[in-house]
Amino acid sequence: MNTIIGQPMDRVDGRLKVTGAATYSAEFNLKDLAYGVTVQSTIAKGRIHSIDSSAAEKLPGVLKIITHENALSLQPVGGSQSPGSGKLGEKDLLPLQGPAVYYDGQHIAIVVADSFETAEHAASLIRVEYEEEKPVFEIEQGIKDAYMPKQGLGGQSVQNTRGDAAAALGQAPVHIEAVYTTPVYHHNPMEPHATVAEWKDDELTIYDATQSVLGSRNAIARMLRLQPENVRLISLYLGGGFGCKGFTWAHSVMAPMAAKIVGRPVKIVLSRQQMFTCNGRRSRTIQQVALGAGNNGKLLAVRHDSTTETSFVDEFVEPAGVATPMLYDAPHLEVVQRLVKLNKGTPCPTRAPGEAVGVFALEAAMDELACRLNMDPVQLRLLNYAAKDPKTGKPWSSKYLDECYKKGAAAIGWHNRKAQPGSLREGEWLVGYGMATATYPANRSPSSARVQLFSNGSAEIACCTQDIGTGTYTILTQITAEGLGLLPERVTCKLGDSLLPKGPNSGGSQTAATAGAAAWAAALTLKSKAIRLAIADKASPLYGLPETAVKAVNGSLYAADTPSKAESYVQLLTRQRLPVLEAEITTQVSTREGQPPPAEPEGEKSEAVKQDEEVNRKQYAFHSFGAQFARVLVDPLLGSVRVTHCASAMDIGTVLNMKTAVNQIMGGMIFGIGMALMEQTIYDPNNGRVVTRDLADYLVPVNADMPEFDVQFINKPDTFISPVGARGIGEIGITGMTAAIINAIYNATGKRIRDLPATPDKLL
Ligand code: MOS
Repeated sequence: MNTIIGQPMDRVDGRLKVTGAATYSAEFNLKDLAYGVTVQSTIAKGRIHSIDSSAAEKLPGVLKIITHENALSLQPVGGSQSPGSGKLGEKDLLPLQGPAVYYDGQHIAIVVADSFETAEHAASLIRVEYEEEKPVFEIEQGIKDAYMPKQGLGGQSVQNTRGDAAAALGQAPVHIEAVYTTPVYHHNPMEPHATVAEWKDDELTIYDATQSVLGSRNAIARMLRLQPENVRLISLYLGGGFGCKGFTWAHSVMAPMAAKIVGRPVKIVLSRQQMFTCNGRRSRTIQQVALGAGNNGKLLAVRHDSTTETSFVDEFVEPAGVATPMLYDAPHLEVVQRLVKLNKGTPCPTRAPGEAVGVFALEAAMDELACRLNMDPVQLRLLNYAAKDPKTGKPWSSKYLDECYKKGAAAIGWHNRKAQPGSLREGEWLVGYGMATATYPANRSPSSARVQLFSNGSAEIACCTQDIGTGTYTILTQITAEGLGLLPERVTCKLGDSLLPKGPNSGGSQTAATAGAAAWAAALTLKSKAIRLAIADKASPLYGLPETAVKAVNGSLYAADTPSKAESYVQLLTRQRLPVLEAEITTQVSTREGQPPPAEPEGEKSEAVKQDEEVNRKQYAFHSFGAQFARVLVDPLLGSVRVTHCASAMDIGTVLNMKTAVNQIMGGMIFGIGMALMEQTIYDPNNGRVVTRDLADYLVPVNADMPEFDVQFINKPDTFISPVGARGIGEIGITGMTAAIINAIYNATGKRIRDLPATPDKLL
């Protein structure tokens, strides 16, 4: 029985963050630091003809202006995501390697100066002449060259067929077909991208805001032709990532390049405006969804045909149809993914890539089907409940989605909903209720972890993975304390440094399940070492007991049947003259689809690791599920929407920390409000430039937009994903929320919004 795991413990780094003592990547103000400001292209396609930097060079304080004419040559990183190399944002566009321009906002030069102000001023004095060509800005312009990618990120399958969807759709008694579109979104974490680089001879240290300490370290090392061991990457705290810090973008290698050239440490922090150009976004999507059902509501066929965009310098698929094969039990299915290359930067994972936009379309279509059938939307979902994974035929590792529907419906007051749109009012406002299913894969990857127990009775858990703001420091502290039998106050957690044991990138909501399982195994391994020491030590009150007869709690080992026979870790280690006892382990477990086999990391194979690795995970399908509900008010005269209540009931396995877990789901729900009502990146159709390039024009929900939140968990362990039982929680919160709100708007008004966001003009 867990006593520490699950507790709503405050963030262990909370005080550091609110007092400003937590050092974010941009805050490493090293001695002799120089400042880099990048110059970006102002055309979307063509070549640089000439760069006139003479005026900039004359400014006092300017150290160097680096362009493709005097840059260091970089080594291509090659295949994305091969073991040991991180994923570049744009593998065919290493920075400053040539005059070609592929999109507006591409970095084409960097000015290095002894102050940020000087660098920025100098950058504004640089004049560039281009040979311009005709670009392609929108999916519609490039649609004739659309192609079907074989796979998505990490080998994910994006084209899926079962049965004969076309025939089944043709014969289905009830047929729904509609096109749903979602605009471009930008991640907009509070913390901008930032890199500080410092050389000592041929050894490089980088402070980088990244969701992938190891991947970025490896990618940067490779580009600079260094051994990975000669590059240390540190990323202690992140102010959010949401996907944009998962790949390694140009600025992260431009900083060490500039530092090498000027012989001083260099810092690059991207401006909010630059954050809209060259470090990913979510692709626009155009999704055609067709559902065929019997008169009883049973799904017969589903077709989901998505067109999304990529760039000319790398391929990224926003896999909008990714959840469609697994969410409902439909015998015939066709999921098609098309890609169009545009003269824009390369998109990248964004807050549940695929699911956030794709589940919106599917769940909006399910609502349309429920209305056509005059059936309760929850009932329609239950009728088509997938008792096992319809995509693979495998049983779920665990699934309590039916309970989620019940809990969520009770929380929102679903019984108050009237099927007939427009039949509920609150004063001037129309009232509507909507719901949708949420889902996200339960990813786990190989990881190492080291736990040390010190003779003063404190412990440390260390892993090179990073806390991107989700609470990783806190949950690893709890898991380690639980595993060792220590108070959490005695445990410190070290993360975000490539010198620490290998850990996962924080993408695909995998960090808690991945690093958490490694921390647990390391803590158990260490506890077992301590117990073995005690039972072999004649001076110990536990001498001679079998290992299984000894338990640990609050820093003490005791005999399970005679608790008075006990000694503390401090007594044991002091008597043994051991300043520290440690265990470093590696688990090779992966639940990820299509991932290449991991490189063998270092670490011992303890009993705890062997037992964990023994579970035959190949026979299960790993997913998290949830039910999300919204109550909205719509002003029929102004078209404005207020979300008054949002409820989520989530099945994510074991809750590791009730406070951070609720926080994660709430964050996802707020993203869902943003997608449903306000977020969109607008481009100028004449030049392909972002118009909404700051947080005044790119609207995100703020406190005044917040509804009442109700977040509940099933909190039953998934014993197959890991002994901890926790699946990831970072992204699922967004996946059903958008559709729940859009469906609620229909219930209030009778207006189907199929093109996000539901701005007032669309509701009048
Ligand atoms: Mo998440 S968008 O997979 O970083």
